[in-house]
Amino acid sequence: MNDVAEVVLPAVPTAGTASVDVACEPWAVQAAGVSSWYGSNQVLKDVDICIPQRRITALIGPSGCGKSTFLRCVNRMNDLIRGFRMQGTVSVHGEDINGPQVDVTLLRRTVGMVFQHPNPFPMSVYDNIALAVREHKPSINRDELDGIVEQSLKDAHLWDEVKDRLSGSALGLSGGQQQRLCIARALAVKPEVLMLDEPCASLDPIATGKIEELLLQLRERYTIIIVTHNLAQARRISDEMAFFLMGEMLEQGPTQQVLAAPQREETAAYLDGSYG
Ligand SMILES: Nc1ncnc2c1ncn2[C@@H]1O[C@H](COP(=O)(O)OP(=O)(O)O)[C@@H](O)[C@H]1O
Ligand SMILES: [Mg+2]
Repeated sequence: MNDVAEVVLPAVPTAGTASVDVACEPWAVQAAGVSSWYGSNQVLKDVDICIPQRRITALIGPSGCGKSTFLRCVNRMNDLIRGFRMQGTVSVHGEDINGPQVDVTLLRRTVGMVFQHPNPFPMSVYDNIALAVREHKPSINRDELDGIVEQSLKDAHLWDEVKDRLSGSALGLSGGQQQRLCIARALAVKPEVLMLDEPCASLDPIATGKIEELLLQLRERYTIIIVTHNLAQARRISDEMAFFLMGEMLEQGPTQQVLAAPQREETAAYLDGSYG
């Protein structure tokens, strides 16, 4: 008998040109043959992608190529957009997110999202997190809630800066602090996947550095998908990279490999700065 345990990974989509590191842990998110439309405008074309667990995957590509649309497919935020239609399959931890049993509220908790512009609620720092937690757990008691608020702020590297002003308005925080508060708010409801859509686009280099350091730590516990225009940022923090162009996912692989030896001419041209 063969006593070597075989690690069974979910099947990697074979269509397309994705090159995926199959040696890593099972996929947190898989897309297979995903196409999508806003009305008659097709914006994703047969996208196959595998997002490894507890790694940082960077989605790169020129503006308008469908990166944000792809993120919104993963937690079904496109459902909120009139005229949106999707084909193909997206699974999170093996479960089809469009399946009949799926609880969309639970899905959006499992797959948290942070946007380009920090969007704290116009209320206190404490309530920004408490509101998100109470929405999912209405009967939570105050002590437990206090504990979750503190832990989430610590996990988002913000606690020391706000612990004396929890009742102050979140809008009084700096942009970088607001973005870390949004990350704390996403973490407070215990997600498994954290998606960030150009989270540093409006931040200065120091605030950006703090977010990058934070993401590198969060990677030990969460699967992170980040859209970034900043190739240096992708190089600094991502393990895996996927290059999108005009709605197609042209190439995926370990970041160092894609940067050093892109398989596609289009990827090389983008990395050289030939695309906007
Ligand atoms: N809510 C929407 N309604 C209609 N078209 C949209 C919407 N959001 C994005 N699009 C279109 O989809 C295409 C891809 O956009 P997007 O996913 O935002 O790209 P990226 O994030 O790569 O810049 C663009 O042509 C954009 O105009
Ligand atoms: Mg975008």
